[in-house]
Amino acid sequence: MSPAIHQQRQRMTHFLDIHNTDTADLRAILDHANAMKTARAGRPKGTPDDEQPLAGHMVALIFEKPSTRTRVSFDVGVRQMGGQSMVLSGAELQLGHGETIADTARVLSRYVDLIMIRTFEEAVLHELAEFASVPVINGLTDDSHPCQIMADVMTFEEHRGPIKGKKVVWSGDGNNVFASFAHAAKQFEFDLTFTGPEVLDPAQVLDGLYTIERNPEKAVEGADLIVTDTWISMHEAQSARERRHNLLRPYQVNADLMSHAKGDALFMHCLPAHREEEATSEVMDGPHSVIFDEAENRLHAQKAIMRWCLGE
Ligand code: CP
Ligand code: NVA
Repeated sequence: MSPAIHQQRQRMTHFLDIHNTDTADLRAILDHANAMKTARAGRPKGTPDDEQPLAGHMVALIFEKPSTRTRVSFDVGVRQMGGQSMVLSGAELQLGHGETIADTARVLSRYVDLIMIRTFEEAVLHELAEFASVPVINGLTDDSHPCQIMADVMTFEEHRGPIKGKKVVWSGDGNNVFASFAHAAKQFEFDLTFTGPEVLDPAQVLDGLYTIERNPEKAVEGADLIVTDTWISMHEAQSARERRHNLLRPYQVNADLMSHAKGDALFMHCLPAHREEEATSEVMDGPHSVIFDEAENRLHAQKAIMRWCLGE
């Protein structure tokens, strides 16, 4: 690698995960997200923001897995900030037919100014970022979902003020979304408890970032926020369905479990949800739930992430 290319890569501002992003930058992104949300409150979704920081910028949105929120919120966010975007499925790219990640990264960097990718293995994301000469954003991998958790922290603070020192309890599968919560717990200084069956414990690499309490009712005592997610993520085999359901049923977030948390505890779910499985409709549509604010804040948080990546 030539020294010039090496230097260029060093300078690149990717958003790949929460734990390797500077804490002050994370806080600045959230401040910016809040300001942008306030500035366009009440306007039709298709109207441009007053500021157009992405004017002249082209953004590629690559999806190797399905998506509703990530796909639409990134696309709308780019347009509101004056940029242009293209949504690409992995299957329709040569990537799905054997072209390497490195070559894909080099080629796309000649056409676009920013790449967002939703993929399977975390290694694919890192390879794309290594070989791209434009910033890369993680739109979910098997191991992490940092954009989601930025929106979640924003949502919590919108409703309850600073998350620092608060108690967050995750009930269910120790999956990719949990992993990004664990990274955020360290960066934003909140307490995180995991409650779920031992065989679905989070990845060992996260040890030390959270505590475990197997009993869900005990786990949620004093909780300010209860979070759950699907029992079967997109990268998990559907053949594991029955086993996972049997293991996870005791960790369903229902009205009874919520009643053991603080009276004003919030409920979050990144969505899509399987109603009456990981959470009941009574909780999802009840007074503690902020799931649709969470979904909306994906838009605002990601707009701030894109601006940060592009230095705009
Ligand atoms: N929460 C989330 O990332 O949703 P999508 O899979 O619909 O993008
Ligand atoms: N854990 C889920 C999150 C979906 C947004 C999955 O990976 O399928």
